[in-house]
Amino acid sequence: MIDDTVRYATDRAVLCWLATVSEHGTPNVSPKELWRVHDHATVLIADIASGGSVRNLRINPACCVSFVDVFRQKGFKLTGAALVIGRKDDDFEHVSAPLRAVAGNRFPVRNVIAVTVEHVAPILAPSYALHNASEEEMMADAFKAYSVKPIAVGTGTGFPLYGNDGERRGNGGPQGSF
Ligand SMILES: Cc1cc2nc3c(=O)[nH]c(=O)nc-3n(C[C@H](O)[C@H](O)[C@H](O)COP(=O)(O)O)c2cc1C
Repeated sequence: MIDDTVRYATDRAVLCWLATVSEHGTPNVSPKELWRVHDHATVLIADIASGGSVRNLRINPACCVSFVDVFRQKGFKLTGAALVIGRKDDDFEHVSAPLRAVAGNRFPVRNVIAVTVEHVAPILAPSYALHNASEEEMMADAFKAYSVKPIAVGTGTGFPLYGNDGERRGNGGPQGSF
């Protein structure tokens, strides 16, 4: 389900977007920066300030987590169902540990949104199919659009991670702006 390709993409997407539905069928979507792939079928998202998403999920667990690498202009949609794990739940300490390790004291994790992924679909900028664009071309266009230059920070992967500030970005890097 969440194979190496998807996992690799999550490492390169700083943000994900969590879509939920209210009890009246009203859609809701909001960004989350503090999220992790837990295992081959589970994504964990920290509820720091996401009362709306949590409220929706407690009534209707159906949700979609989407993310793109804004430079490669590709990503994935993960659809499934979420369980909200609160501080009073037995497994909160264990499940929230990797999220709390990143969040630190400045961003208290109120709940963990544990998404069991049932379906994975790719997201691709149309130019890949319509104009047979290469990843390099798409990245060059994106660098221009965002007025940034790539920097290599010695990840050993051969793939630079990007940032104007020299900081490592991506889901595996230091975070804190939430
Ligand atoms: C860049 C960015 C990253 C964010 N990351 C998180 C996050 O990891 N967890 C969280 O609970 N809120 C995060 N937020 C805040 C929520 O997106 C924001 O409070 C939103 O209004 C919540 O909407 P909801 O209550 O409908 O989920 C982030 C916001 C931004 C702009």
